[in-house]
Amino acid sequence: MASDSRLVWDLPLRAFHWLLALSILGSWLTAEVKLPFLPDPWALHYQLGYFTLGLLCFRIIWGFVGPKHARFASFLPGPRKLWRYAKGLFAGKSDESVGHSPLGALAVIGLLAAVSLQAVTGLFTGDEDDFRWGPYYSVLNLSWIHHRSFYLVLLPLIGLHVAAVAFYWAVKKQNLLGPMLTGRKPAALVPASEAIAGSAPIRALIVICACAALVCALVFGAPTTAAS
Ligand code: HEM
Ligand code: HEM
Repeated sequence: MASDSRLVWDLPLRAFHWLLALSILGSWLTAEVKLPFLPDPWALHYQLGYFTLGLLCFRIIWGFVGPKHARFASFLPGPRKLWRYAKGLFAGKSDESVGHSPLGALAVIGLLAAVSLQAVTGLFTGDEDDFRWGPYYSVLNLSWIHHRSFYLVLLPLIGLHVAAVAFYWAVKKQNLLGPMLTGRKPAALVPASEAIAGSAPIRALIVICACAALVCALVFGAPTTAAS
């Protein structure tokens, strides 16, 4: 273990992040791009959507039971803290946060909410002419939201998120990407009392099993089977 760096982001949180990004990329590809090697892209679209729902379920629970910097209570700022940080950021101050910065915390909530909107409305989306629908489409038709929210809400937020990471790197000289890959930040930026002891893998496994069970119940207990 490198002694000049300290663990900040646990492995389950990092795995969540990169699987979420891949899953959303896959969901877009299977909905919008004809992939010649995929005989049934819509079936995969639904599977990826269920996987995304499982990831969201994991992240929400992990926000209460995960290691320190994964917990919502450790990073959600009050309005005063947020205002002070935003003023400092644009006034050229560069104090680096150990976990999410107050503005980063807003991005986390915004992104989680936007992905949830997309994935949940997918369950209620369909197109009867093309014989395609999610498993709860017969209960309520939310296709109009699912069709618009990707391009009007989720994609702009993802763009802003990636632009913010680039801004911190280029202007503030803060590397946020490296720690989201390795979990570690330089020891100079992380007091020993702020580092996390480990990734709590057994706890993560229990949460993953609970989320998998919940998503299975949601899909197999649905009034109809998704059609493609
Ligand atoms: C579909 C695309 C993406 C989504 C939905 C997404 C979502 C998120 C979420 C929810 C978090 C908070 C992590 C947590 O506490 O759970 C986060 C953090 C982060 N993401 Fe992404 N992300 C996406 C793509 C990317 C990409 C392409 C990059 C690379 C530039 C990236 C870099 C980061 C970094 C560096 C952080 C940590 C920010 C910090 O230190 O506060 N993300 N992202
Ligand atoms: C985060 C996860 C998801 C993303 C990013 C996503 C994205 C998209 C996109 C971009 C479209 C095309 C919209 C258009 O052409 O206007 C679409 C269509 C569709 N999605 Fe999703 N989706 C997700 C989850 C789901 C889930 C969980 C289901 C159901 C199990 C689902 C079912 C559908 C259906 C049935 C359509 C086609 C509607 C039609 O042909 O009119 N999606 N999705």
